[in-house]
Amino acid sequence: MKIAVLPGDGIGPEIVAQAVRVLEVLTSDGMKFELETALLGGCAVDATGNPFPEETRKLAIEADALLLGAVGGSQYDELPREKRPERGLLSIRKDLNLFANLRPVMLYSELEDASTLKPEVISGLDILIIRELTGDIYFGEPRGIKLHDDQRLGFNTMIYSEAEIYRIAHVAFRVARKRNKKLCSVDKMNVLECSQLWRDVVIEVSQEYRDVELSHMLVDNAAMQLVLEPKQFDVIVTGNMFGDILSDEASMLTGSIGMLPSASLDDKNKGLYEPIHGSAPDIAGKNIANPLATILSVAMMLRYTFNHEEAAVRIENSVKKVLAQNYRTRDICEPGMKEIGTAEMGDAVLKNL
Ligand code: IPM
Ligand code: MG
Repeated sequence: MKIAVLPGDGIGPEIVAQAVRVLEVLTSDGMKFELETALLGGCAVDATGNPFPEETRKLAIEADALLLGAVGGSQYDELPREKRPERGLLSIRKDLNLFANLRPVMLYSELEDASTLKPEVISGLDILIIRELTGDIYFGEPRGIKLHDDQRLGFNTMIYSEAEIYRIAHVAFRVARKRNKKLCSVDKMNVLECSQLWRDVVIEVSQEYRDVELSHMLVDNAAMQLVLEPKQFDVIVTGNMFGDILSDEASMLTGSIGMLPSASLDDKNKGLYEPIHGSAPDIAGKNIANPLATILSVAMMLRYTFNHEEAAVRIENSVKKVLAQNYRTRDICEPGMKEIGTAEMGDAVLKNL
């Protein structure tokens, strides 16, 4: 099982180091991983001038799975768009055809009080957001900033082909089938043609999954319902930009964005696994970042790419135990809990593994 390790920028290297320790424990228990590290994002720009260097691209194509920390930093904001760290991330998603982004939003009962929402609103929460990741306004052409009648115009194109909607809808229905058979598709059909097509195609695909209960919600209402009554949702499927926004919002239901892993899959279950949070340059290098989202991303890798459900559950259980033992990184710490650093959180997970 070949894994490309892409630590990236900011807190990326610290949190990925802890996740790699988890893989090492599994290795010593008999699983065979071959790890190879490469540059992506700002660190790649610094070293090569390119956020997604050819060497990284080769490794990414060769590997069965990729483990990513995070990319980005304000020092790159002035660079031309194609040289920014985020472009590295977008290119790797697009080049590897990683169109299905799975973002589970699960609340650990130990963290009920870490959320800003009332415990009764969120206790037992377990949602899965499926975000289309290689289309939409993120990649649509034409795009740019141009001069028109003496003023500048900024423009992007929101676009989906029916083929793109079909394939993400199929992923969503299949996943919903394995859970509670409830799927909510989120769009902006009252205003956007692109969303009208989205809704039409999702309804067509639903004919093949009559056992799954399909509902539709407009994205503004979905944003509201997520904080009003989040437990009404099971699986949510939506486009790239709506999914970006809703998944950040949903992460806060769980107390910290530092807890949420993600998987980005192609049609053969090759995947890029990363925490949904960013590179957090303000806390980088201080040993205070929460490595749990990255460690939980390794669990997702074992589940979705390597079909090792048992090992995945083993990692998830050890995270649960660590929380039950009251160990917390700063982002999820509350009075009476034991605040520990990034590496110590890694130690605690390993001990329970
Ligand atoms: C995410 C991030 C990225 C995105 C950025 C860093 C380009 O916010 O993975 O959600 O917008 O997709
Ligand atoms: Mg985002």
